[in-house]
Amino acid sequence: MSEYKAKVYYRAQVAQDYDAVRNHSTYRRYKWHREYQVLDKILEQLPSDLRLLDIPCGTGRFFPLIDEKSMKFMGADISQDMITQASSRASSCRNFEGFTQADAENLPFEDNKFDFILSMRFFHHLPADAVLKILREFRRVSKHGIIMEAPITQPISRILMALAGAKRMSWDAENELKCPLFPINKREFLRILRSLNLELAVCYSVTWFWGQNKICVLRKL
Ligand SMILES: C[S@@+](CC[C@H](N)C(=O)[O-])C[C@H]1O[C@@H](n2cnc3c(N)ncnc32)[C@H](O)[C@@H]1O
Repeated sequence: MSEYKAKVYYRAQVAQDYDAVRNHSTYRRYKWHREYQVLDKILEQLPSDLRLLDIPCGTGRFFPLIDEKSMKFMGADISQDMITQASSRASSCRNFEGFTQADAENLPFEDNKFDFILSMRFFHHLPADAVLKILREFRRVSKHGIIMEAPITQPISRILMALAGAKRMSWDAENELKCPLFPINKREFLRILRSLNLELAVCYSVTWFWGQNKICVLRKL
């Protein structure tokens, strides 16, 4: 198993404050709103009789949206404190089928159990070896593929970020034990997907202009 900060960080007060922190500036609210919009568009294009696994579900930010689409879904996270925060959202969802506390590297589910895996704000926290293990595990437990959020750069976003003087990454990169894979350029991302027998079906920008934050639909080959 890989060790990295996000595995143990989202506990106690951090879990309690999670939603408030992500709501406390205009930009953060905008980002949350855009994630919702993009995900809405993606789910709208899928049949409603699907079963999803939201992992890591965190505080269940996307539970109401999945529920609205009449899709069955479960939530999983390594942090019991995040699951506790998510439980009030889950209790008002008709199509929610339960929580599992689990490490994404080793899921307690049989092959093809879910139609799609949904994974938001996760991959940029992970060292490279964990990304590969987790994508393999997500592929194994999904029938059709993975809906994932990650920073994927294109030449234009790299130029704009450089002009804005943005640093390459946040605390994740600075404190990692191993090299983080994300942000990754699109060509390298596609190469990794091919090696895992996945293909990029569609990829939407979460934010405009600087636009490296993407939500992608990966299909199993
Ligand atoms: C930034 S939060 C994202 C939560 C949620 N997807 C969202 O968009 O709000 C990262 C989450 O990853 C969970 N996590 C970290 N490592 C994990 C692992 N190996 N397996 C499952 N969950 C993990 C943390 O507990 C935390 O809830």
